[in-house]
Amino acid sequence: MRLFFLLPLPALLHVVHAQQNVTIDDTDFAMITYSGIWEASSTHRSPLDYNGSHTLSSDSAASATFTFTGVAVYYLSPRWPYAVSTRLSLDGEPSTLVNLTDPNAATTSPGQPESALYSVAWSRTDLANQTHTVVATIGNYIIVDGFM
Ligand SMILES: *[C@@H]1O[C@H](CO)[C@@H](O)[C@H](O)[C@H]1NC(C)=O
Ligand SMILES: *[C@@H]1O[C@H](CO)[C@@H](O)[C@H](O)[C@H]1NC(C)=O
Ligand SMILES: *[C@@H]1O[C@H](CO)[C@@H](O)[C@H](O)[C@H]1NC(C)=O
Ligand SMILES: *[C@@H]1O[C@H](CO)[C@@H](O)[C@H](O)[C@H]1NC(C)=O
Repeated sequence: MRLFFLLPLPALLHVVHAQQNVTIDDTDFAMITYSGIWEASSTHRSPLDYNGSHTLSSDSAASATFTFTGVAVYYLSPRWPYAVSTRLSLDGEPSTLVNLTDPNAATTSPGQPESALYSVAWSRTDLANQTHTVVATIGNYIIVDGFM
């Protein structure tokens, strides 16, 4: 009888704390704000990219801002067989240079296609469950493929 009444509590806690990953594509302009000069996603297509393409900038004054509410964020990107990097910053903190060079591919000249499937290249977890912003700025490029 007692057990019968205790059972619903763990079930309720499970629902309250449920976490779920949601992936946002670089073409989602409701979630990602682009400023400066960008090359459209449609001009950078590859089956190695999340949803088949990425958005790119070579403009040192450009930025992309991803705004979300949640407890973690994952930056998704393919990798290239030459030097490619992007800077990422969470909530105005100093930026981190994210190296997007494929360590497993023979080096090619810049401008050649991606060589590795998109994966998590940077992440932040254990965040307060509130609104956060990630700003992407130039390393030697700015790559935006997906955020989760
Ligand atoms: C974060 O808060 C929202 C309500 O604002 C809630 O729906 C969600 O379940 C919470 N997420 C976590 C992981 O606690
Ligand atoms: C979300 O994805 C990350 C990276 O793949 C993974 O570590 C994490 O466990 C996932 N979270 C949930 C709730 O599925
Ligand atoms: C995938 O990209 C296309 C544009 O190429 C866009 O219309 C579509 O909404 C994207 N899908 C997702 C799941 O974001
Ligand atoms: C980026 O990673 C590649 C492959 O691991 C490495 O060769 C290169 O030195 C790294 N670049 C920087 C700036 O750390």
